[in-house]
Amino acid sequence: MNTPEIRRTGEDSCRAQSMLFRSKGRAGLQYGDWQELFPEIIGRSPTMLKALETVAKISHSESAVLISGESGTGKELIASAIHRLSSRSARPFVAINCSAIPENLLESELFGHEKGAFTGADRRRMGRFDAASGGTLFLDEIGDMPLALQAKLLRVLQERKFTPLGGNEIREADVRIVAATNLDLEKAVKAGTFRLDLFYRLNVLPVALPALRERAEDIAELLEHFLDLAVRMHGYDASTTLGPDAMQTLCTFAWPGNVRQLQNMIERLVVLKGGGEITLEDLPPELTHAAPACVIPSAIPTVVANATIPLAVRPVETPAAIIPGSFGELPKDGIDLIQFIEDLENSMIMQALDRTSHNKNQAAKLLGLNRTTLVERIKKRGLAPLNAPAQEL
Ligand SMILES: Nc1ncnc2c1ncn2[C@@H]1O[C@H](COP(=O)(O)OP(=O)(O)OP(=O)(O)O)[C@@H](O)[C@H]1O
Ligand SMILES: [Mg+2]
Repeated sequence: MNTPEIRRTGEDSCRAQSMLFRSKGRAGLQYGDWQELFPEIIGRSPTMLKALETVAKISHSESAVLISGESGTGKELIASAIHRLSSRSARPFVAINCSAIPENLLESELFGHEKGAFTGADRRRMGRFDAASGGTLFLDEIGDMPLALQAKLLRVLQERKFTPLGGNEIREADVRIVAATNLDLEKAVKAGTFRLDLFYRLNVLPVALPALRERAEDIAELLEHFLDLAVRMHGYDASTTLGPDAMQTLCTFAWPGNVRQLQNMIERLVVLKGGGEITLEDLPPELTHAAPACVIPSAIPTVVANATIPLAVRPVETPAAIIPGSFGELPKDGIDLIQFIEDLENSMIMQALDRTSHNKNQAAKLLGLNRTTLVERIKKRGLAPLNAPAQEL
């Protein structure tokens, strides 16, 4: 992707963006200005622009940021944009996923450890606070951090100092903290699973990312972007298109897995189609049988890889989830019910895997299956998605 700002030094980038922001003022930023500030982020709907405006304002600050939003809404993308636009951008951006690392290892991952600090610590190891020194530390899925570690993290953030496990040396925590969550942390505080004081410490600068169904105007542009990307990545003919019916269905789908789900779906469609026009028949049943969640105008553009298309999609207030019973009518000529159910099941499994970054425990939870059943089904049906082999199988 063409992102010239990334190559600027931190100071240049910070100065450029704050000059741009100040010279234009709050109301004066135009489409091109957003393009310059956020070339990697697709979507200029009012709700997205509101979020980007917040991001532009807070990037240069040293205060902690808490990004909230459903899975796949672009929290990590925004976190790295905040870093890129900050005065720390010449230094590292280091991410740690608090839900992906076992509880007993998370502390040493964050703060590092000395040789012999615990069984198996056969050598000294640097933690993420050290790795991110001078830059930004991105604490992803912060809502899943164990309570005991929350207390330690709070102390480190307040004192800006930490000690690696098993060591005595006090080290400076020179990081800007950006945290992200897809949980409602205020609810987690009420439920007693998240510390109120840490919530306040992290939530100095909140950024709320809208779900895709709340910014359906952006869907067409995202489809175009990811179609183009998939076509280039897999070396297909650049005339690969999304036909009008397929386009209409994709634009009105609720996308519960947000941009990540859309991106993976387009990649799947491009690869399975292998070139030419993608039509309604190429879409999986959970797309064609779901109740539309968005209204789009009657003239639906055909999306051609690399083309520019008009953006005009309006959401209506319907629930985003696929509702059993709203799968549509039995087709006139009947249906292969067993195949239909298998396709539907496969698609739900793929979405759960996409949404959980292939974490089988979490995916099984989302599907109400036990892990063994899920793993068996993935194996039997060869469902490990194209771009992310299931590592635990
Ligand atoms: N506005 C956007 N423009 C372009 N790509 C996007 C946008 N939002 C998300 N993406 C892409 O969608 C994918 C998911 O985004 P990201 O990982 O940032 O989401 P997330 O909110 O962190 O998800 P999760 O909560 O599941 O970790 C990434 O490939 C990202 O590049
Ligand atoms: Mg993420």
